[in-house]
Amino acid sequence: MSATRIPKSEYARRRKALMAQMEPNSIAILPAAPMYIRNRDVEHVYRQDSDFQYLSGFPEPEAVIALIPGREHGEYVLFCRERDPERELWDGLRAGQEGAVGQYGADDAFPIGDIDDILPGLIEGRSRVYYAIGSNAEFDHRLMEWINSIRAKARQGAQPPNEFVALDHLLHDMRLYKSAAEVKVMREAAQISARAHVRAMQASRPGLHEYHLEAELDYEFRKGGARMPAYGSIVAAGRNACILHYRENDAPLKDGDLVLIDAGCEIDCYASDITRTFPVNGRFSPEQRAIYEIVLEANLAAFEYIAPGRHWNEAHEATVRVITAGLVRLGLLEGEVGQLIAEEAYKPFYMHRAGHWLGMDVHDVGDYRVGGQWRVLEPGMAMTVEPGVYIAPDNQQVARKWRGIGVRIEDDVVVTRDGCEILTGGVPKQADEIEALMAAARAREGEVA
Ligand code: GLY
Ligand code: MN
Ligand code: MN
Repeated sequence: MSATRIPKSEYARRRKALMAQMEPNSIAILPAAPMYIRNRDVEHVYRQDSDFQYLSGFPEPEAVIALIPGREHGEYVLFCRERDPERELWDGLRAGQEGAVGQYGADDAFPIGDIDDILPGLIEGRSRVYYAIGSNAEFDHRLMEWINSIRAKARQGAQPPNEFVALDHLLHDMRLYKSAAEVKVMREAAQISARAHVRAMQASRPGLHEYHLEAELDYEFRKGGARMPAYGSIVAAGRNACILHYRENDAPLKDGDLVLIDAGCEIDCYASDITRTFPVNGRFSPEQRAIYEIVLEANLAAFEYIAPGRHWNEAHEATVRVITAGLVRLGLLEGEVGQLIAEEAYKPFYMHRAGHWLGMDVHDVGDYRVGGQWRVLEPGMAMTVEPGVYIAPDNQQVARKWRGIGVRIEDDVVVTRDGCEILTGGVPKQADEIEALMAAARAREGEVA
C-alpha cells in the first residue's frame, strides 16, 4: 500500500484545521477523482483529486470522504472499495475498510457500495453541506439525489440541509500555505526535474528529434521515483518555442536553433515546473544570446520581489520593466520605456504572466487577489517565476534575424521568513554555464568515441 512522504499526522492536522473553520452542525463531502477511460477497456493512469489527496493521502478511486465535526462515532468517515481477492489479483491491492481506519486514519469506514444507504443518514439533521459544487457533474447529481431522498422524508421529520457552502474556498486557502513537509516534497520534485533538464541538455544534438529529449526527461523523472510528469512536457525547438503550450514534441532539432523545454515531475501529487532554453548545438548565436540575457535578467529581477510583505504582482511588474527596457535596447521596440509599459507594447513579445501558484496542482489553487487587492506574500506560499520573450516567426516589424526566437526561463520558489528559497537551482541558467555543461557532455562523448 503506497504511503506518501507527508506524515499521517499532517493529514489529521489538515482535517482538523478544516473542521475548525466549518460552521457548527455541518458536513463536508469530497469524492475521489473518477477513473477515465483512455480507449475501450484501457484506463488513463489514475491520479487522485488534489483536494481529496490533501485531506486523506488515500490513493484509491471510488472513495468518498465525509468530515462531520462533532460526530460521536467519529468525525472522519471514509467510503471506499471493499477488499476483493478476485479483483485485487487483476488490478492490485485495496486498503478496504480495515486499511482505511488502520493505515489512513479514518474514524469510521464503509463500503462504497453502501453509500446510498449510509450517507443520507449522515447528512440528515445537519444544516450545512460543504462541497465543491460544479467540479464533478456526476457526483453533483448523486449528491442532489441524496439530498432529495432526505427532503422526501421531511414530513416524517427528516431535516434536509438548507445551506450549501463552496468547500474550495476554505480548502484552497489552506493549500496555498505549504508546510515544512510539503516544501520538502516539492524540493525533491524540483531536484529530480532539475536533473532531468541537465540530462536533456547533455543529450541534445542536431539531427535528434524533440521526443528524444522528452525521453531523457521521462527517464530521469521515473528514475527519481516520480510516477508521472506534473503536466504534458513541452519540448519545443526553433520557432515551436513561440507556441506557448506546444505539445507535438516531434520536430527535428536543427543546428543553429534553440530548444525550449518546459517540464517537471510530480512526487506524491506535488508538482515541479521548470523551463530552460538552450542551443541545440551547444552554442548560442549572438541574437539568441541577446534575447536570452534579457529573459534571464527578468527572471533574476523577479526574485527581489518575492518576500513576505511584497504583493503578488510586484514580481510580474519587475519582469515587464526588464523585458521592455531590453527590447528597446535591442531596437525591437522603440520609445520611452514607461510609456511602452503603459501601452503594453511588450505584449506581442511577452504575453503571459510571470508566474502562478505551485503545489499539488501545477497551476495551484489560491486567490491572487484578496478584497480587490493583489495578495500579499507570506511564508510558505510557493510559485513559479517564468518570464519569456517570443518573437513570432511572421513578425514583419522586426529584422528577420530575430524572428522565431522563443526563450522562457522558469524556476520554482517558496516564500521564506525573510525572502525566498529557489527550489530549482540544480539546473544552470547562465548562458555560459549552459554552454560549458553542453561542451563537457560533448567532450565526454568524444572521448568515448
Ligand atoms: N508548464 C505550465 C506552466 O509553465 O505554466
Ligand atoms: Mn512550465
Ligand atoms: Mn509554470
